[in-house]
Amino acid sequence: MKSIASAPAKIILFGEHFVVHGTNALLAAIDKRVTVTSTFTENKTIKVNSELGTIEVPISSSHEEVESEFRPFVYLANKMIASNQNVNGLEITINSDIPVGVGLGSSSACCVAAASSIFGLFKKLSDSEILKMSREAEKTIFPDLSGADLYVCAAGGIIGCEVDNTISLHSSTPSVSYEISANLVIVNSMIQHSTKRSVEKVRRFKENNEKRFSELCDLVTKLIGDDGTRARGGALDNMKNNDIAALGLKMTENQKYLEEIQVSNDTLRDMISSLKEISLGTKITGAGDGGCIIALVEDKNLDKVPALLPKDKEYFSAKIDTKGVVWSTIEE
Ligand code: MEV
Repeated sequence: MKSIASAPAKIILFGEHFVVHGTNALLAAIDKRVTVTSTFTENKTIKVNSELGTIEVPISSSHEEVESEFRPFVYLANKMIASNQNVNGLEITINSDIPVGVGLGSSSACCVAAASSIFGLFKKLSDSEILKMSREAEKTIFPDLSGADLYVCAAGGIIGCEVDNTISLHSSTPSVSYEISANLVIVNSMIQHSTKRSVEKVRRFKENNEKRFSELCDLVTKLIGDDGTRARGGALDNMKNNDIAALGLKMTENQKYLEEIQVSNDTLRDMISSLKEISLGTKITGAGDGGCIIALVEDKNLDKVPALLPKDKEYFSAKIDTKGVVWSTIEE
């Protein structure tokens, strides 16, 4: 039997970095996917095939014995094997069209799809089980992340996330109830970043600027408009009322906060300013220090994007993925 699960990439519309420190964030799943296929083998090994290479380790191996990019898969395989004694071996294959290391949630989507695929050899996991398992798996490489990316990769749609003391996550807004009637243009700086390093850098900024950081957290919450009162005029309200001009202005405002906490750089600023005349709002999406920006661009301006961008950058117009994680099995 093959157990196959796929999960979407994500973008962060508002609140990256601040969400690690307890602020809300607004995220969207987008139409790029990773697919993880798991099968039983007789080899007494855990084998993982991905674009990054192949590893094959004895079934008794711990995730700590393998290179970091393979750890979540070995961790999940160990967990599954521990609860199902008669498994001889496992082969896990990852196919992805999500660019790696540029803020589009590749590792979160991998963890979500892997949890669903590996445990799916025995049973369909519930959404909360997927979230729990993928969270544990992601922590093997990124112990200090908020987990917000996992939530949207699992649920799909546009989601407001509240992170509760970095362990449990809950959505403060239902998935898929919002739409954005303009294009979300993603531009890749082609500079890979380390999310871990950026998160550490922001933590240091917070330690040295406690008061200002707390003000910025409040400003982000207000920007989203999800401060418990569903403040009118926040981004959620703008989406509900289809006010894309106001939404764009808030993205630009959020970018100012990201500049202030120093996760931007000249390349990203150049990319943002190159789209200034046609974008309603532009900001980093994800950890910054490289990675991608998102620009909110109306249909009438979409064909102007390539001429405005620096030639060495890639871009695409993302569609919102409303499915989230999808799982199926094939009998062989
Ligand atoms: C990374 O995609 C998003 C960050 O906010 C980190 C996190 O939420 O854990 C930078």
